[in-house]
Amino acid sequence: RGNQESNSAWFPERKDPGFIQKFCCKVIKAGEIPKHVAFIMDGNRRYALKMNYSRIIGHSMGFDKLAETLEWCLDLGIKEVTVYAFSIENFKRSKKEVEDLMKLAKGKFDRLLLERDKIDKHGICIRIFGDISLLPPDVQVAVANTVKISRHNNRAFLNVCLAYTARNEMTNAMKELAIGVENQMLRPSDICEDLLEKCMYTGEATQPDLIIRTSGEVRLSDFLLWQSAYSCLTFLDVYWPEFTIWNFLWCIIRFQLSYQKIKDGKQYNNQMKEHLQHVSDKENALKEACMAGEVNTNMDDIIKRYRQEREKRVNKFINYLHNKRLEFVNALSNLD
Ligand code: FPP
Ligand code: MG
Repeated sequence: RGNQESNSAWFPERKDPGFIQKFCCKVIKAGEIPKHVAFIMDGNRRYALKMNYSRIIGHSMGFDKLAETLEWCLDLGIKEVTVYAFSIENFKRSKKEVEDLMKLAKGKFDRLLLERDKIDKHGICIRIFGDISLLPPDVQVAVANTVKISRHNNRAFLNVCLAYTARNEMTNAMKELAIGVENQMLRPSDICEDLLEKCMYTGEATQPDLIIRTSGEVRLSDFLLWQSAYSCLTFLDVYWPEFTIWNFLWCIIRFQLSYQKIKDGKQYNNQMKEHLQHVSDKENALKEACMAGEVNTNMDDIIKRYRQEREKRVNKFINYLHNKRLEFVNALSNLD
């Protein structure tokens, strides 16, 4: 079955799903469909061991399963997918396995350039989340090229977490904020949940509605720890290469069953954030007005003005961060 050099496509020829599958998808689609699904594609090596394949064939079959899963997502109308492709902790694996995985990733990103028409046909924007500088130089270039050729698209999003851990992401976001404060683009009091969130690698992404982990492990392994606060978490007892549409539909049913509760929780959190922001704006606006000796101006006007100025600072900082990341990718890419 397959070989290490196999260079299977991101958009392979499709088999007809058959009547039963189409019918079941239609029934599920009558309910709420998650807008964003994240996958922890675990169990490739155990699958390879079970089937007597080499490890890298397990990973390569894992990629083929990802391609198949992306098709299901497009059919179901799921507009955003995030996958855990390589954790920073995976660098601790044997030199041979890390090299093979990097070679696989590079091959797949290079192959994506050949499938550009399909990317554009479906309007897919591919984003890479993680500490790219930890990757071998040739993989960095392949990653940058992938981002560059697809960033104009916005009908569907594929987020690939590569050299990623959530704690690294959060630490990095805090460093970005510290730089912002240090160079006086931001004030310490500007820091809030929403701003911290925007500084994450996932800053421009949405939060996953559903997270699916295969292989029977019941843990998040440092994946999207911040972003999973309001996600439905599902754990399956199959290895990733064995994942089927039926497993997937079952997870979506689980999401549908918990949808209302999660929605209410999110709504409450948003109200709370709004309230806390108002309290903070009021306190800071008052302080500023006192320092400036402004006594006759209407309090509501003072708060409104403070809020507008704060939003201007924050937006300018987010824009700066966006451009910094854009330039990083442009400098790495070897495409025009
Ligand atoms: C986890 O299984 C899987 C990985 C660490 C690699 C996943 C990578 C792919 C499916 C390829 C993706 C490629 C691109 C370009 C997106 P494991 O190795 O932990 O297996 P085990 O749990 O059985 O040990
Ligand atoms: Mg594993």
